[in-house]
Amino acid sequence: MMTTPDTLRRLPAVATSIALAAAFLLPAATAQASPVGDLQSTQATPSSAATAEATPGKNSKSSTSDHQYAAYSTDPASPLVLVNKDHPLQPRDYAPKDLVSVSGNGTEMVPRAAKAMKKLIAGGARDGQRLTVISAYRSYDHQLALFQRYTRKYGKDYAARISAKPGTSEHQLGLSADVGAASGQCALKACLADLPSGKWIAAHAADYGFIVRYPQDEHETTGYNFEPWHLRYVGTKAAQRMDQQDMATFEEYSDHLVADRKKQKSKTAKKEAAAERQAAREKAARDAEWERQERRAEETRWWPDWARSAFTE
Ligand code: DAL
Ligand code: ZN
Repeated sequence: MMTTPDTLRRLPAVATSIALAAAFLLPAATAQASPVGDLQSTQATPSSAATAEATPGKNSKSSTSDHQYAAYSTDPASPLVLVNKDHPLQPRDYAPKDLVSVSGNGTEMVPRAAKAMKKLIAGGARDGQRLTVISAYRSYDHQLALFQRYTRKYGKDYAARISAKPGTSEHQLGLSADVGAASGQCALKACLADLPSGKWIAAHAADYGFIVRYPQDEHETTGYNFEPWHLRYVGTKAAQRMDQQDMATFEEYSDHLVADRKKQKSKTAKKEAAAERQAAREKAARDAEWERQERRAEETRWWPDWARSAFTE
């Protein structure tokens, strides 16, 4: 079914497990070159999905919160870039320069995210959790096909709650990956969160620099339903700070970074202004002293040396 190198590159090895393979089976009508990833809807209709959230028509707000969260970075190569419905990729058809294989099943990410993801998979294995990467980098065209398919299937409102429009998906950055249990159980479904593998992901993602990007009950902020499988690489410092400061969404964290930067800038500006005022005071004092000495020299110009040295100290 997948014939072009582009699609082959991103098609995960279906041999991982029969159950996982089932997650990749596409409806007959769209089976020709449909993209892989975020396929919860291909195996479970929204009404049969595991959470109440996953019901079309309900809470189907398709844009992020009224509050416009600020982007700390808009550089698509930065792990701190904010991409959501209010902050599309710049440019929209961005593609990373460098992509490397993540787990040998056709999935790719940018090098530092791939390295971290490999460590996460190894860490899971050490703790008895066999994980697999289901979908990682997706091109603009790939995301377009995916979004169109969901729109045909569920209508645009619900599609917008489970899938990003092309040019607004983190998958296009090469910094995000959909991760699941190697068994294929609850692949790309909210019930992953209740499995030991989903719990492990939630508890350990930050150790490797990842965040669960679309947490439960945060759709007002993120614009999307709960996706316990969608991990975004932000780096360990950011991921751990979010954990420690109880920040559920990257939107909040970005806002926080922007506020910090502003505070830092105004602190620096205040410090610079204070240093300038101090320098001006010191210069004025030096000038006054110079003038005083000049005046004194002028007044004592005709005095004999003995008198000058006696009176001009
Ligand atoms: N499912 C996420 C929102 C995406 O399509 O990027
Ligand atoms: Zn995803």
